[in-house]
Amino acid sequence: MFKRLPDGAGRRVTVSIDGREVSVAAGVSVAAAVLEHCAGPTRTTPVSGGPRAPYCMMGACFECLMQIDGVPNRQACMVEVADGMHIARQKGARAPD
Ligand code: FES
Repeated sequence: MFKRLPDGAGRRVTVSIDGREVSVAAGVSVAAAVLEHCAGPTRTTPVSGGPRAPYCMMGACFECLMQIDGVPNRQACMVEVADGMHIARQKGARAPD
């Protein structure tokens, strides 16, 4: 469904998505990495548990909320991947502090 255009540099980083290590191009957003490797929902809604996935890819819709390096409610489309990053799907609302 998605195919990344060659950028010439070819740098890659390794991230963990729900515990599975994958190699992704450096410089892409977390949402793009998840779409490239999982093609599934990034979160479920707090009330009905319905699946949601990235939609706008520019920080407007908030459908891409994920837990990134242990921090919930991060907009995956606005965060750049980093080597060793831990990414997890967010199930419902984040836990209260
Ligand atoms: S995909 Fe819309 S805010 Fe991230």
